[in-house]
Amino acid sequence: MKKIKVNTSSKPYEIFIGRNIFTNVIDLINKKNLYENLFIIVDKNVFIHHKNLIENTFDNFKRKYFYIFTSTEKNKNLEEVKNIFNLLIKKSYGRDTTIVAIGGGILGDLAAFVASSFGRGTKFIQIPTTLLSMVDSSVGGKTGINFGDTKNLIGTFFQPDFVLIDTLFLSTLPNDELLCGLGEVAKYYFLTGDNFYKSTLNKVLNNNINDIEKLIAKSISFKTNVVENDEREIGLRKILNLGHTFGHAIEIDQNHKIKHGQAVIIGITCSLYLSFYLELINHKDLNSLLKLPLLFQNLISINNANIESIYKIMLRDKKNRNGKIKFVLVKEPGHIFIDVEAEKILIVKSLEKGLSLFI
Ligand code: GLY
Repeated sequence: MKKIKVNTSSKPYEIFIGRNIFTNVIDLINKKNLYENLFIIVDKNVFIHHKNLIENTFDNFKRKYFYIFTSTEKNKNLEEVKNIFNLLIKKSYGRDTTIVAIGGGILGDLAAFVASSFGRGTKFIQIPTTLLSMVDSSVGGKTGINFGDTKNLIGTFFQPDFVLIDTLFLSTLPNDELLCGLGEVAKYYFLTGDNFYKSTLNKVLNNNINDIEKLIAKSISFKTNVVENDEREIGLRKILNLGHTFGHAIEIDQNHKIKHGQAVIIGITCSLYLSFYLELINHKDLNSLLKLPLLFQNLISINNANIESIYKIMLRDKKNRNGKIKFVLVKEPGHIFIDVEAEKILIVKSLEKGLSLFI
């Protein structure tokens, strides 16, 4: 299996990538001297498909509890965290616990939040099972739950003890979830200008997943580099939010009928329009850059959107400063601007244009 090292100042750790490597989790727990009191938070669908593998792998551990989680944005909340805290206490788990997250980004963020806060922090393992969590959210230490109408408003930075990415899980991943992962892959294309992301994204859209492991490793290596340089998102790490300020607000306005990765695609589209209105790119560049998100045009469809409500949600974004919405924009693939402010009229125009392509 391939190994990528992450050297953040708070905690160095390793990411393992391969196919059929899930059972290695046992050796890794031993090798890294993690606590053998396991609290395993596992996605309901993943558990249905891989019950035997998961149960048999952890069979030898005396102290284990499987918490089955239905991964929806609506369940990524304080109530669910409270349920888990209560269970941890009821089952006499203490700080000497290893929390294992087996699932996608929603589950991983929530489990990481529990691990970072229970007893002021337990040991923590990320086992991402969706493309989105494999290329993005399982690495970098962001934890979070939704609160009120704001996504990931409550959270911490807390790095895992290791990440194990087994591409076997992709074989049972529904198509719309694969699509979500491609949203973040499109983001990496704009951030790096590396055509590998674009060509592999095209291949995956055509059901050719031969390069998927390379795609995951490349995405993670890029993200790792960014996170090592700016773990707490003071500057550089903000580039990873391309398309997310628009995207998060669109997700909420659509009442989570579209998934995060799909909203990111629409968010990137709106960001390209805003880059154009702010004259970072010309009309010809805009049309050329729009080709990538438009590959998803027939795969994502949204209900009529309420632009004013989206704008209001954006005003509450936790990345804002001094009451101003901050955007990540594109000059060209690989040349990114952060913390860009814009007049409301241009934000609204960008939303209208971007959303109209997906209605
Ligand atoms: N998903 C963006 C970040 O981890 O910073």
